[in-house]
Amino acid sequence: MNTRLLDGRSLASEIREETTRRAQALSAQGTPPSLSVISATEDEGSQWYVRSIERAATKLGIDCAVIALGPNASVGALNDALDEAALSTHATILQAPLPPGIDGPTLASRIPVERDVDGANPLSLGRLEAGLPAFAPSTAAAVIALLDNHRISISGRHVVVVGRSLVVGKPLTQLLLGRDATVTVCHSRTVDLARHTRRADILVVAIGRPGLVRAEHVGPNAVVIDVGTNTASDGSLIGDVSAEDVLASSPSTRITPVPGGVGPVTTALLLRHVVEAAEALGSRFGGDGRKL
Ligand SMILES: NC(=O)c1ccc[n+]([C@@H]2O[C@H](COP(=O)([O-])OP(=O)(O)OC[C@H]3O[C@@H](n4cnc5c(N)ncnc54)[C@H](OP(=O)(O)O)[C@@H]3O)[C@@H](O)[C@H]2O)c1
Repeated sequence: MNTRLLDGRSLASEIREETTRRAQALSAQGTPPSLSVISATEDEGSQWYVRSIERAATKLGIDCAVIALGPNASVGALNDALDEAALSTHATILQAPLPPGIDGPTLASRIPVERDVDGANPLSLGRLEAGLPAFAPSTAAAVIALLDNHRISISGRHVVVVGRSLVVGKPLTQLLLGRDATVTVCHSRTVDLARHTRRADILVVAIGRPGLVRAEHVGPNAVVIDVGTNTASDGSLIGDVSAEDVLASSPSTRITPVPGGVGPVTTALLLRHVVEAAEALGSRFGGDGRKL
């Protein structure tokens, strides 16, 4: 195995095993962990992702209900689905993209924080910022878990995060600050991106532009975490970093592969969050105590 590739599959497998054990314990007590996934899109990638979450959840012993409202769903219908999810399951995911004109953060404010397993409610982000318990978006949490798993220290290191979305860049920045990193955040208006990224001890790239980050963006001993998932013209999955270029030009750089890096850890952590929510909530589902 190439030791310069920071694999995520073995960590994901460990997380899944632990999650399965915890899900079995909950089921034995009569309350299997449960998840609602609310989707309002015909986007193929998104639908594929929802099916993969459903399959993975079922394998681990999590009851998963997919509520597909279609791309013309109204705000009212989405609100109703979110309210019903909070009454009937332990955890809720609001799948992106949403129909045009519907504001994601406003809608996600309806997900109770204790069930917000993918950190979509802006309150969850605020709580993370204040150092209070909340679920972080699983991708942001996956970056930290991967660094820890590969024994890459975070405290005192200079981490450059490229991307400032609510799903990855912003929550990750809070998690990194919470681990005493010095953080620089770059985005599409950053002037001379390479000047910033070259200074990183740890470079996290979450842009959504295949291969945008190349050797000239990476310092000689950097660790690179490639969050990007883009579909190449041949249908394969590729990251935001041109890994071959980076590995060839700097002999000690380490990098996460795409696929097989952040992605599998993200899914595994998302489902662990579901079990954590279920452990905390027990048989409390909602106002009228209804269960699935
Ligand atoms: N592996 C996983 O599990 C997982 C999960 C989530 C996302 N992803 C992937 O991660 C990537 C990012 O996702 P996202 O949801 O965060 O995307 P997003 O919401 O589109 O945000 C992209 C970010 O990249 C910045 N950006 C765009 N072009 C740039 C450039 N040329 N230079 C520097 N910054 C630039 C944008 O800046 P502005 O803010 O200025 O527009 C924005 O902050 C995508 O490939 C997505 O598929 C993977």
